[in-house]
Amino acid sequence: MIELVAKIDTKHIKTMIAFTYLDSKGKIKTNSKNAVAIRTLGELEKAKSHAATKNDIFVIREWNEGNVNTLIFAGLGKGKELTQEDFRRVIGAAYRRLESEKIMQSFICKDSLQKLFSKEEVTGSITAEAVELAGYLFNDLKSKPKELPSLQVMGSKTFAAGFKQGQIIADAANFARNLGDMPANLLTPTVFAKRAQEKAKGTKLKVQIWDETRIKKENFGLMLGVAQGSDQPPRVIHLEYNGAGKSQKPIAYIGKGLTFDCGGVSIKPSGGMEEMKYDMCGGANVLATMIAIAKLGLKVNCFAMVGCTENMVNGSATKPGDVHTARNGKTVEVSNTDAEGRLVLADLLCYASEKKPAAIIDAATLTGAMVVALGDLHTGFYTSNDKLAKKVNDAAGDCGELVWRMPVLQEHMSDMKGTYSDLNNMGTPSRKAGSAQAAGFLKEFVPEEIPYAHFDIAGTAWSVGNRLNYIRGGASGCMVRTFVEIAKKWKA
Ligand code: BES
Ligand code: MN
Ligand code: ZN
Repeated sequence: MIELVAKIDTKHIKTMIAFTYLDSKGKIKTNSKNAVAIRTLGELEKAKSHAATKNDIFVIREWNEGNVNTLIFAGLGKGKELTQEDFRRVIGAAYRRLESEKIMQSFICKDSLQKLFSKEEVTGSITAEAVELAGYLFNDLKSKPKELPSLQVMGSKTFAAGFKQGQIIADAANFARNLGDMPANLLTPTVFAKRAQEKAKGTKLKVQIWDETRIKKENFGLMLGVAQGSDQPPRVIHLEYNGAGKSQKPIAYIGKGLTFDCGGVSIKPSGGMEEMKYDMCGGANVLATMIAIAKLGLKVNCFAMVGCTENMVNGSATKPGDVHTARNGKTVEVSNTDAEGRLVLADLLCYASEKKPAAIIDAATLTGAMVVALGDLHTGFYTSNDKLAKKVNDAAGDCGELVWRMPVLQEHMSDMKGTYSDLNNMGTPSRKAGSAQAAGFLKEFVPEEIPYAHFDIAGTAWSVGNRLNYIRGGASGCMVRTFVEIAKKWKA
């Protein structure tokens, strides 16, 4: 937790964090104006104790200067080269150190934040965002929740403006992460929808929850084919936000919300199956995107749909070979009931396309093949629209998320043709470019003229390794920042 204050509570807070960097001559510097801190830094440099390289954190206990008894130097590396993402990671490294040293209260030396970026607003937004993201921990189900470090910081009006934005985005992402980390018995489709409704209260989001009757009425035959194997009723969460004039076409965000995916009759191996509680992360992250957009008051129109169901195996479950009919009338043979995400998304994509949106963007933990292809660093995205691809790359680059464009061609679509029906949910040849084939399947449900990007977040939705510093294990909230950034920059 980080709080922007008019004055640091130095009566209680005895730890100061100051950023350090290397100047063009390789000398260690800090922008802190604290003379003793500067002198101390000089001594550390001589003793080679602190190198000020990126993520190099040095803690001095019993510093005892004025009100401060602990000083932490956080290295930013070469000052001129500092990127926004570097800064996020340094803050993450510093936060982790606070945790390991059990320093529960500290403040950031305001001067040391000076001139990091040309706009103070950027410094403010990243400071808030990175601390809040780093401080996220799924603590809800522990009888004794872990205590986490909290920070204070002071800043100018422009710093404060950025700070507020960063807080909104991180809070939304952390909401999505909490949904992701929640076990499937506590986050059923019904609960998922309720949590969306609660979170949207007080915002300008219009929320509609579709129950089974409505989903049937809308002819979501593929989604219902997945849901029929579960004792939990499915839900569709529909959110709408109008921040621009009526003439502006909306962006449609679509999310896969499988609250659990055991594979159905084509059941998954038991090892690691517990991770399939995360199969709703696409939906959660799309929901968080909408919440952030509404709270930021962006001048854009958008709507979102999350398809919430379990993929389970009861006596009524879909059997391999069953054929179901999509909303648009296309028939699909379900050769493998574990390829359920594309089925749920297909109906949502049909519905969204009918609204003639400016663009459709979906997020889904869709294929294991995506994890093999790109691992946990990059989110793979598929689009045949170069303009949209550029928007995605620019947005992701500007908010520090890593994306990689993947190919989806007519050939991948052809791989999904059916023998006994229009389409098959499995590609032939199987085991080849599985995530591109899935993308090809989805493309069948969006008319060519609508710019469409599909994000396969299977590798990045949770447990993304330690390299980012500011995101620990568990749900990551990936693509929330990128999706919000796309909306921020949107020009129809
Ligand atoms: N939710 C899974 C994909 C997944 C697997 C995400 C591992 C993250 C980690 C999806 O529903 C699935 O089971 N896909 C199958 C598709 C296959 C049967 C064509 C897969 O990837 O094995
Ligand atoms: Mn599956
Ligand atoms: Zn799945």
